Amino acid sequence: MKEIKDLKVYDSGNQNGKVILFVHGFPLTSNMWKNQIEYFGKDYRCVSYDIRGLGNSAAGDGQFTMESFVDDLMEITSTLPLDKPILCGLSMGGYIALRTIEKFPDTFGGLILMDTRSDADGNEGKLKRSAGIKRINIEGPIPFISDFVQNCFYKESIKRLGEKYISFLEEAKKNNATGVKGSLLAMLSRTDTTESLSKIKVPVLLIGGEFDTLTPPPVMKLMADKIPNSTFEVIPDCGHLSPFERGDKVNEVMEKFLLKL
Ligand code: MLT
Repeated sequence: MKEIKDLKVYDSGNQNGKVILFVHGFPLTSNMWKNQIEYFGKDYRCVSYDIRGLGNSAAGDGQFTMESFVDDLMEITSTLPLDKPILCGLSMGGYIALRTIEKFPDTFGGLILMDTRSDADGNEGKLKRSAGIKRINIEGPIPFISDFVQNCFYKESIKRLGEKYISFLEEAKKNNATGVKGSLLAMLSRTDTTESLSKIKVPVLLIGGEFDTLTPPPVMKLMADKIPNSTFEVIPDCGHLSPFERGDKVNEVMEKFLLKL
């Protein structure tokens, strides 16, 4: 584990291989990429990190924006340094990836977007996030995190994963109030990156869970239609957390894409 500007960065796998830079979702940690890092580590250098305020990366004052999350990602990219990494983000990680590639279109060798969207929060979404912050202030972070994470999964996945689901949830529940609220504010105030989708120059793979209710397949299909060099795949029998719920299937689809880069 390395530390870059107080961020906990995990750098493993084949150090001579192409680099995949993984950006996790909310309110999770880099550990959500376990299936992918184990699988791709033999051929690829796998870099992941805990987004500021989540996992082992300290929350500090918790005043985050999508722009500060992009600064963090770029700091990791230039400090390690990473040569044309393939950027892979899920949901909030996808928001960070989309804004990063909008600002720095020449830094990356490819883009993988999982269970995410390019549009910003509408009024309803903003109010929902505000209610989440209020709930955390009253009840502490655990009830909010438990409900949020449970809602991300396809019900059948929860049954199928059993103990694995329980440990996943336990890890998310360790996140602290300041970090979780800071991420909510960053998502609430993020810009819309839809306009720039048509300008993405690198190959893009979009992956959506069949039963994802947060960023459903039709939302991702609309994005894919706007990105020139893109492939869109729906992963069956899973919800919003496809790389964890159906790691085997996601790895297969990712591998096909990566081999063509
Ligand atoms: C995530 O999985 O990162 C979140 O669902 C993103 C969001 O709440 O918009």
